[in-house]
Amino acid sequence: MTERDGYKLLGDIEAHLDDAAALHGAIFDKPWSRDALRDLLSMSGTAGAVILSNAREPTFAGFVLFQCIGDFAEILTLAVAPDHRGRGLGRTLVQRVLARARETGAEKVMLEVQDGNLPAVQLYESLGMKAFDRRHNYYKSSDGRHADAILMQVFFDN
Ligand SMILES: CC(C)(COP(=O)(O)OP(=O)(O)OC[C@H]1O[C@@H](n2cnc3c(N)ncnc32)[C@H](O)[C@@H]1OP(=O)(O)O)[C@@H](O)C(=O)NCCC(=O)NCCS
Repeated sequence: MTERDGYKLLGDIEAHLDDAAALHGAIFDKPWSRDALRDLLSMSGTAGAVILSNAREPTFAGFVLFQCIGDFAEILTLAVAPDHRGRGLGRTLVQRVLARARETGAEKVMLEVQDGNLPAVQLYESLGMKAFDRRHNYYKSSDGRHADAILMQVFFDN
């Protein structure tokens, strides 16, 4: 991603925690507050990346939070703002995680995704991730419905 694409990728999420919490709250059923995000970032190996539009008044377009620990890395959350979807930002954020994970010596990257979240599952599959397990009724939405979590992973051939 270059500035000519109209976006810029930043490796430091600390200055954007309010925007990240607002986007997370607007998308997910169980919002993570600014403090919750900051607590996650204080954990060993946890980091994030954000994408801002490259306009005169930059807007917050998306973010990812991940943890590289030992021989694996995990994507903790990923979100692209609805107005900015379909432009490769989600892929850029996941590729960033894969690159960082490789740099830290991880052998694989894992994540959980809600069953039926087609955009996310297809994004992950397009980057080589495969489903390997399922957690039944892992998610419960505010209206009381349950959904399975699909566990996905990709191994690096180091
Ligand atoms: C999933 C999400 C991050 C994708 O972000 P995005 O910036 O729109 O994705 P990209 O433009 O980078 O798309 C990359 C690939 O993802 C898949 N994809 C993205 N949107 C899709 C859609 N609506 N339907 C099917 N596949 C889709 C495609 O494989 C796409 O590749 P292609 O453009 O070559 O077809 C975004 O939809 C989002 O924030 N969703 C809500 C939060 C969420 O579900 N997070 C993941 C939790 S595990």
